[in-house]
Amino acid sequence: MEDFFELVLNRESCRSYKGEPVKKEDLIKCIETARLAPSACNGQPWKFVIVTNDKIIEECVKLTQPFTKNAGAFIIIVEEKPSFQTKIVNKFKEQDYTQVDIGIVTSHICLAATELGMSTCMLGWFNEKKIKELLNISVSKRVRLVISVGYATNQEVKPKKRKDLSQILTFVE
Ligand SMILES: Cc1cc2nc3c(=O)[nH]c(=O)nc-3n(C[C@H](O)[C@H](O)[C@H](O)COP(=O)(O)O)c2cc1C
Repeated sequence: MEDFFELVLNRESCRSYKGEPVKKEDLIKCIETARLAPSACNGQPWKFVIVTNDKIIEECVKLTQPFTKNAGAFIIIVEEKPSFQTKIVNKFKEQDYTQVDIGIVTSHICLAATELGMSTCMLGWFNEKKIKELLNISVSKRVRLVISVGYATNQEVKPKKRKDLSQILTFVE
């Protein structure tokens, strides 16, 4: 098992995949970590659709971004209606914790995939309407993010471009 800090460094967005199939059991392990993710009021407002069928993958490539060509799988994150409790909290606090929850669960999945030697890219740019039609997801649901999963052509981790700690951190001591 990798050290967590190393795992965080190793996760990066993959924009070139080798075309090797990914193992179903590894994808299930990723969703198992999603299942354990925290969420507001423990509402777990998510469902996952995993595409490993070659023909449907081709369609997903067309409905997302061309670099996903050769991905071994797509994970579609479907936002479920927030629980009654979360709805109340969202309303009174003027927040959308449901989308926060989706972000957290997506992170769990991508880190788990990295731990298992796979590469991912979180995709916010995709044709939501057509993805829902393709995968028989109800029009009333929102697909917030799609994750492409596969094996990277280049395993070398790129340096991270990030703001300096001093730009993002305030200590109140
Ligand atoms: C909510 C969200 C949506 C994103 N959408 C896309 C996308 O549509 N296409 C893409 O190439 N990368 C997308 N990314 C990946 C980011 O560009 C990437 O995480 C960021 O540049 C940092 O790079 P890294 O993931 O390699 O560390 C998205 C990331 C997040 C968190």
